[in-house]
Amino acid sequence: MKFINFIFLFIPLIIFSQDERLINSIKNGESVYKDFCLRCHLPNGEGQIGIFPPLAKSDFLFKNMEESVKAIKFGGIDGEIIVNGVKYNSKMEKMGLYDDEIADVMNYILNSWGNKHDKIIEEAYVESLKK
Ligand code: HEC
Repeated sequence: MKFINFIFLFIPLIIFSQDERLINSIKNGESVYKDFCLRCHLPNGEGQIGIFPPLAKSDFLFKNMEESVKAIKFGGIDGEIIVNGVKYNSKMEKMGLYDDEIADVMNYILNSWGNKHDKIIEEAYVESLKK
């Protein structure tokens, strides 16, 4: 009986607080995006074909999430990448963001313009990534 109570009381609480954290992170990420990313990737994450890759519905972003976070953290990807079938060979600059800002902006781009990713990107995960 007690265990049942536990499940009904705490599981929804945990789920709720996860959602709440994701919503807050997305909100903070939106201002990071406007300050740092918008000038290349543009307001709707559409990018500029052949120069700045799109983030909206980007196959690369979802298939290479760790590499994408590293690119934001350490400044670009060496060599050529292919995003939605188009080659990109220019380089993203190092922006000097804090790990929590990178987590927030990731949560924003992963959940905007038709993108959807249920799992929250945590600051600790960003921190754990080495060059
Ligand atoms: C100076 C222009 C510029 C700025 C500013 C910039 N990017 Fe990029 N971004 C690029 C380029 C060019 C690439 C292609 C990969 C490479 O070679 O670095 C890229 C690649 C990416 C990728 C992986 C490819 C994809 O399209 O899925 C992600 C994710 C990304 N950028 C996110 C961001 C985020 C988030 C910010 C802001 C914190 C940001 N970028 C700021 C130019 C920029």
